[in-house]
Order: sequence, then structure tokens, then C-alpha cells
Amino acid sequence: MNQDAEFGFEELQEELQKEILAEARKLYTDIVIDHAMNPRNAGEMNDADGYGQALGSCGDDMEIWLRVKNGTISEAKFWTNGCSTTIASGSVITEMAKGRPVMEAQKISQQDVLRALDGLPEEHQHCATLAANAMKGAVKDYIALKREPWKRNYQRR
Ligand code: FES
Repeated sequence: MNQDAEFGFEELQEELQKEILAEARKLYTDIVIDHAMNPRNAGEMNDADGYGQALGSCGDDMEIWLRVKNGTISEAKFWTNGCSTTIASGSVITEMAKGRPVMEAQKISQQDVLRALDGLPEEHQHCATLAANAMKGAVKDYIALKREPWKRNYQRR
């Protein structure tokens, strides 16, 4: 392949990316696109202080891990097999949780996630519910572990 052909391919790739982005902007806010394309806090966490898993109405699931120091969430991670708006929801909710008192994090609602993302299309609003439910589960697990720390040894976290 000569240099001109390579240059043409890169230009084509750039054009395609611009078109895809323009299409995405018709449906999603810039915040959603940013979090979906550059997710924060994606991945698992070893030996977490709280772990939650939730199943969405569509069959997708999300897991959330929390690290808590002195009652405050110092680190939060998420993983999902869901769509890009689910990724955006997991990304934004873990960002919202970091630095908050752990008991406050369980109050983060679907509406809070939607507000932080500047909205989601109607058919994807359940993705925000999934993230809020996984966060509630992680805080619930944190509370349960505080009561029965020996459970840490045999649960996924
Ligand atoms: Fe299923 Fe987003 S959680 S489409």
C-alpha cells in the first residue's frame, strides 16, 4: 500500500468516527457520550468493603465494588455487560459515590443518575435504575459485612 492510500484510509476512518459521533449526538447528551466512551472506574476491585450486583429489566447486569475509609467511599468500581448507556450510568454513579459518606451513597436514585447524565432517552432510563440498584446493593453489603465480618471470606468481593 502506498502512502497516499494509507492517508486516505485514515481520513476515511476519521470521517466515519465523526459520522458515528454526529448520530450519537442526536440521541445522547455530551455527558453520556463522554462517560460511555471514556468510562471512569471500570473494572473489578479485590477485597472490597462492599459489593453489589443488580439485574436490569432487560437482562443486563451491573456489579459495583466499594472501598470505604472512615465511613467515606474512597474508591468505587463497576462492571457491566450492558449497553453504552449502562456503561455511562455505572461510570457516573461511581464518580458520584466517591468521597461521599457510604450511607449517603445508597440514596443515589435513578433520577440523580439521570440528572448527572443530563438525561437518557426513555428506552434507556432503566440503565440508570440498574446502576442505582447495584449501588444500593453494595452499600447493603457493606452494612452486612460490618455486622458479620466473617462473611468476607466466602463472598465475591
Ligand atoms: Fe439493559 Fe441498559 S441496562 S439496555
